[in-house]
Amino acid sequence: MRRMCYMFHLLLLLQLCALPYTWAREGSACLMDAESEIKRAPDKAEMFVTTSHVFKRHLAQYFCAISGNLTVLELGIYHGHTTAVLAAMFRRVISVDVEKTYLDAAAAHTNGLTNVVFLRLNLMVDDWQAFTSNSVDVVVIDANHKYEYVRADAHNALRYFPSLKFLVFDDFGHEKGVQETVSELEDVGVLVECQGLGQGWDGSAWKFLDWDERTGKTFWSWTNKSEGRVCKRGEAALGMDKTFLNQRFYIYRQPLSQLCSVGLFRFLPDGRLLSSPWGSGEWTISQTSQDRYALLQLPEMSPSPVEIFFNSRRTAFVLSELDAPTSRSEWFGIRDDLVHQPFEVAGNHFHD
Ligand SMILES: C[S@@+](CC[C@H](N)C(=O)[O-])C[C@H]1O[C@@H](n2cnc3c(N)ncnc32)[C@H](O)[C@@H]1O
Repeated sequence: MRRMCYMFHLLLLLQLCALPYTWAREGSACLMDAESEIKRAPDKAEMFVTTSHVFKRHLAQYFCAISGNLTVLELGIYHGHTTAVLAAMFRRVISVDVEKTYLDAAAAHTNGLTNVVFLRLNLMVDDWQAFTSNSVDVVVIDANHKYEYVRADAHNALRYFPSLKFLVFDDFGHEKGVQETVSELEDVGVLVECQGLGQGWDGSAWKFLDWDERTGKTFWSWTNKSEGRVCKRGEAALGMDKTFLNQRFYIYRQPLSQLCSVGLFRFLPDGRLLSSPWGSGEWTISQTSQDRYALLQLPEMSPSPVEIFFNSRRTAFVLSELDAPTSRSEWFGIRDDLVHQPFEVAGNHFHD
């Protein structure tokens, strides 16, 4: 018996020695800490908005061996149930949400965890410069799941954090916006070695709470796509930032003496431009070395081609006629949510 015990300990010791040093020392403690936070969280069956216990466990299994020294940025936190699991695994957690009530709920749930900071930001509208001086290794994308939003979150993460190594997506299984974003980035090699996380990770079907956008009614549906997906950053560069596609821009006449827009623009991915009141036109990327210029043919606005110059975030642009005698820009375009934001923020303060 004593001999068997001795053999067992020897085997365990040999196994631990075979593992990387940090894993042997920290990985198992990380898994245990993560598990105790998972047990404190409701499962997806009880609270559909959060990730499932299986998802959280897969995250821990994927990252625990390496996360001891890494920083994770969590986009969309709700009640902080995933935040607490991340805090058990990573050295530092930066958690962002647009809703103060959710940030407060998450702060209460993670009370006592000293490695989490909470930031109130609207990821689509606010300036990501707010956190880009941090070296971020992993970004967990789980905020607004519409295509434009998920794509903007992924593109911003890839552009603003040179140290980024992994992207994690939640709600891949049933949100088309998440699926499209991941497959676009995988197709061009910007994301590589993606693998399933959570329910349906092995291709088995699982039930999720679906809803009809028109009526707002919820109902159960099935999918065999995984709940989430984790990917490594590949070697390929992101290419031109096309986050301006399919967005609505207000157009103002320069100089901006009156804040009354004179029209609307929407750039479509196939090179068409829909506008009001100038009808439809065409846009192309300009053959300059900089990818912030585009050329526009919109005869009802201008008989000659118009040059578009985007700001670095593609949230605004100036337009100038190519044949104009002066280089002064004639029009200014700005994404609609940036115009609405100050009114929303000010309006929210009526409820304070
Ligand atoms: C699906 S929930 C997040 C669930 C959470 N990650 C979890 O696992 O428990 C989505 C969250 O994203 C936040 N959100 C939605 N749009 C946002 C935006 N534009 N900027 C920041 N947060 C946003 C919502 O307030 C909500 O708390």
